[in-house]
Amino acid sequence: MAPKSSSLASAVLLLIAEATAQVSNAHVAFTTLQEWYNPSTGLWDTAGWWNGANSMTVIADLAAVDASIVQDAIQIFETTFSVAPSVNPSAGIEKNITAHGIMQTTYPAGWPDDTIVATADPTNSTSWLDGANDDAEWWGLAWIAAYDVTGNETYLNLAEGIFNQIASGWGTNCGNGGIYWETTNHYVNAIASELFISLAAHLANRVSDSASTYIAWAEEAWNWFAATGMINSEGTINDGLTSDCVNNGQPVWSYNQGVILGGLAELNRASPNQSYIHSANTIAQAAIAALADSDHVIHDTCEPNCAPDATQFKGIFIRNLLLLHRASPHDLYREVIEACATSIWANDRDTSTNQLSIDWAGPYVSSANSSTHSSAMDALVAVISV
Ligand SMILES: *[C@@H]1O[C@H](CO)[C@@H](O)[C@H](O)[C@H]1NC(C)=O
Ligand SMILES: *[C@@H]1O[C@H](CO)[C@@H](O)[C@H](O)[C@H]1NC(C)=O
Ligand SMILES: *[C@@H]1O[C@H](CO)[C@@H](O)[C@H](O)[C@H]1NC(C)=O
Ligand SMILES: *[C@@H]1O[C@H](CO)[C@@H](O)[C@H](O)[C@H]1NC(C)=O
Ligand SMILES: *[C@@H]1O[C@H](CO)[C@@H](O)[C@H](O)[C@H]1NC(C)=O
Repeated sequence: MAPKSSSLASAVLLLIAEATAQVSNAHVAFTTLQEWYNPSTGLWDTAGWWNGANSMTVIADLAAVDASIVQDAIQIFETTFSVAPSVNPSAGIEKNITAHGIMQTTYPAGWPDDTIVATADPTNSTSWLDGANDDAEWWGLAWIAAYDVTGNETYLNLAEGIFNQIASGWGTNCGNGGIYWETTNHYVNAIASELFISLAAHLANRVSDSASTYIAWAEEAWNWFAATGMINSEGTINDGLTSDCVNNGQPVWSYNQGVILGGLAELNRASPNQSYIHSANTIAQAAIAALADSDHVIHDTCEPNCAPDATQFKGIFIRNLLLLHRASPHDLYREVIEACATSIWANDRDTSTNQLSIDWAGPYVSSANSSTHSSAMDALVAVISV
């Protein structure tokens, strides 16, 4: 008996040691991320406005599983809430797709340091809108993540305000639906519409007196999305539609495979229907087949030159794969999350600075920035929960 119980005990100890190492790696990543945090802009230097929402989200997600950083996270939420609207890049932001299919957000000259304006009221959702609908939706999800950690209704109210303003722009170009990329650029693309589904579904689970309204929005938007043709014959999602409303064949970016997974998992929680889980599993498995290398590490086709936007994408995929894994556990999802986190730490980290870069399989690409780093941190946080 003794050998058996002692080998059980050592297996348990090994598991505890692994879990401790995972939390400790995520802590190191958090400390490193904060070296880029600029309390006078409420954003993370070296990356853009919408990336800031994603840095805040990964911090909130870590705080949700690690009580020891909650006080730090609350401080960050409060600072970003009060000062980020003063660097909202609205006047002059522009989004384009280059000839190579790379997304490209351009900011006003001198942004953000030279364009600080008097702080607008952060409780007013208009202060968070910059004309790019996806940007505002990222902030909506970020404030929901902050609400989940703090229970602070100010953040949930802001997310609702953002959603309602975006909903007022529900499109008419393609199949009477969808959210345009920008108020002035009516490209019907996957990201703005997927984020809309996810935001509606997240709100449905948190705002009980309007749950049915948010469920109805999420269902309408998902039914529209599924019928557009953005999901291709392989089951993955291209970037968007042509002006004639057919799949434009632009790259299968990891974030477009990811956001819908979290959206459908949240929608299923608000209004259970196995078809949501079935669709999410189909997309997730097609995406892994398309984007993972033979070691299960996720890539985007632009590596290593993914600036300025696609540096953020893979972490978004993993964050949302975890939401699906919680709703519908699958060995493959656990393996992918573990492989990414392990490889990032071993192969994609500058061991002198602990900065995390763009190619999760390595070798480390110099230099990293708050976008590559926060994106990789998503995997280090996700692995704590699988
Ligand atoms: C909620 O968040 C707001 C904005 O950061 C802050 O001013 C307020 O003190 C928070 N409320 C509580 C109860 O912590
Ligand atoms: C983006 O595309 C628009 C046309 O859709 C064009 O007018 C504008 O010059 C482009 N901006 C950049 C920065 O390439
Ligand atoms: C929110 O800000 C916008 C733009 O400054 C303003 O027009 C609107 O009246 C404000 N809404 C509220 C409720 O204060
Ligand atoms: C589940 O969702 C699918 C796809 O949206 C829909 O066709 C079906 O009617 C739904 N089932 C129920 C029981 O609501
Ligand atoms: C962030 O770092 C990656 C990896 O080196 C690089 O490709 C990208 O250009 C950097 N982003 C910016 C905005 O400089």
